[in-house]
Amino acid sequence: MKKVLALILALAMVFALASTSVAFADDAHKVGISMPTKSLERWNRDGSYLKEQFEAAGFEVELTYSDNDAVQQNNDIANMIADGVEVLVIAAIDSDTLSSVLADAADAGIVTIAYDRLINNADIAYYVSFDNYTVGVLQAQYVIDALDLENAGDKTYNIEFTAGDPADTNAGYFFNGAFDTLKPFIDAGTLQIPSGKTTFEQVATPQWSTDTALENFQNTLASYYGDGTVLDIALCSNDSTAAGVAQAIVSDYAGSNQPIVTGQDGDIGNLQNIVDGIQTMTVYKNVSDEAGVTLVLVSAILDGETPGEELCEKFDAEAAFDTETYDNGLGVVPSYLLVPYSIDASNLDLLVETGNYEWDANNQYLVSTLG
Ligand code: GAL
Repeated sequence: MKKVLALILALAMVFALASTSVAFADDAHKVGISMPTKSLERWNRDGSYLKEQFEAAGFEVELTYSDNDAVQQNNDIANMIADGVEVLVIAAIDSDTLSSVLADAADAGIVTIAYDRLINNADIAYYVSFDNYTVGVLQAQYVIDALDLENAGDKTYNIEFTAGDPADTNAGYFFNGAFDTLKPFIDAGTLQIPSGKTTFEQVATPQWSTDTALENFQNTLASYYGDGTVLDIALCSNDSTAAGVAQAIVSDYAGSNQPIVTGQDGDIGNLQNIVDGIQTMTVYKNVSDEAGVTLVLVSAILDGETPGEELCEKFDAEAAFDTETYDNGLGVVPSYLLVPYSIDASNLDLLVETGNYEWDANNQYLVSTLG
């Protein structure tokens, strides 16, 4: 008799556990994650880290990549709304094209987080990114330090700028951070711009395209450096454009010097170019941390909180709570801004310490630890 009771008890426990797990799956929060494209390396990392971390926290995740096509991204988001997500985490392809679909999201009671790139004229609960202006400042400061511009005396240096996608609100902040920081040296004549291209519009690169950056820089070199003019600095806003500019310098620059080439993101190919000396530095943004901050924020919101400065204490990474900088046309969006930092050949091991990179088998180049 005792054995029968024990068997009944065991079966009862099994069914109870099974029902709990089914119940958990039904009650799991559902998040829609909309990334712009797989053709720009960093978003593959963002999508992987976000999916991995949200699923580990028990969320059901719907992740899409929209091939840098703003119409496709609208459709992907509309499908997520129809699929009943509670939260949207969006890195916008075009910061000005999501107002309508996000009005539908708001009507459905969905919370929208602008991820990495601000979204204009839409009901955005929070913005999670890095201090984008500081990214440009770090690139400029690297140049100032490397050439000791503060003590240049009557020496002059030639610089050219390559900015990002005009549809991406981040691109303006990157360019302005760099140009504003270098402007005193431009005004003093220490830095000169042979192409005369001094505005964002003149040096912007649609879709952050490596091929477009390559072609544009080849044209600049042919037009202004074919007479032996020395190029000292190519200030590029990110790694995908720096890859094109570095390639143009290798193939089309006749000077004997290696210009300083800046970048941003820590893309694998660019880190190899830094080891090989055809790119000088990149500004690293730990997008695993950016995903972690987003998860803590979304979890707090779903717990009924209206997070502020105090949430920063729960992050595994340093971040500032900003309620002044990012006005998206409907008002300032409260923002959590992580901290970027400069990487060059002298401190690549800092990237290994993040756990996001490791040295290859020959200990020559860094590779991603993402599966
Ligand atoms: C920006 C992003 C940068 C840059 C660029 C291309 O919005 O913040 O990291 O890489 O997009 O992906």
